[in-house]
Amino acid sequence: MSPKTFTLSNELHAYVVAHGSEPDDVAKRLTAETRERFPDDAGMMISPEQARFLTLMTKVCGAGHAVEVGTFTGYSALAIARGLPQDGRLTCFDTSAEYTGVARRFWAEGGVLGRIELRVGRAEERLRELPAEPGIDLAFIDADKTGYPTYWEEIVVRTRPGGLIFVDNALRGGRVLSPGDSADVRAVVEFNAMAREDDRVEIVLLPIGDGLLMARRL
Ligand SMILES: C[S@@+](CC[C@H](N)C(=O)[O-])C[C@H]1O[C@@H](n2cnc3c(N)ncnc32)[C@H](O)[C@@H]1O
Repeated sequence: MSPKTFTLSNELHAYVVAHGSEPDDVAKRLTAETRERFPDDAGMMISPEQARFLTLMTKVCGAGHAVEVGTFTGYSALAIARGLPQDGRLTCFDTSAEYTGVARRFWAEGGVLGRIELRVGRAEERLRELPAEPGIDLAFIDADKTGYPTYWEEIVVRTRPGGLIFVDNALRGGRVLSPGDSADVRAVVEFNAMAREDDRVEIVLLPIGDGLLMARRL
């Protein structure tokens, strides 16, 4: 498997992963089944160190209500849900019933199904169903890249002051420096620039995984 952090050698990436806490058995089986069943799409999963980072950040910010846009087979949602308290809630959005069917099974095995509400449909429409008040403590955006500005707008207004918003693939394997004709990469470049100018948040772009933009709501 090639390193998800493109600036690291395979060996150094393995060292990084090995020196974070061990993934639990459910996470290991979820990622293995995803690679087996969806070999062409399995690269969409976040990296193991990103998963651990999301769990820790969920705990650190004491999140009770989290939102995820782009769930796939449930790996990142499992990581976030693991950081929530017993009565915490994670609302997930994804268009695919097939991918999220796998997610549900592993969430149940991991004992976090009761904390997760899955809404299958287009996030650009369904995010508007969330209460308008700023009740989100932590959000993770990882769906189609051209939708990022819409997801960002819907989430920023609903995030409480001090709440955290994470956005994945902010570096696109380094291609943000020369996006060419790729609509996806161009969308990320435009999104990164827009987020940088957004005075409702303070942000840092972390070179973890494929680049993780971290924003704190002011
Ligand atoms: C990069 S994957 C998410 C990976 C996941 N966060 C993980 O770490 O395993 C992107 C997901 O976004 C979903 N998606 C694409 N367009 C969407 C949309 N308009 N609304 C909601 N989900 C969408 C896809 O079905 C796919 O499962």
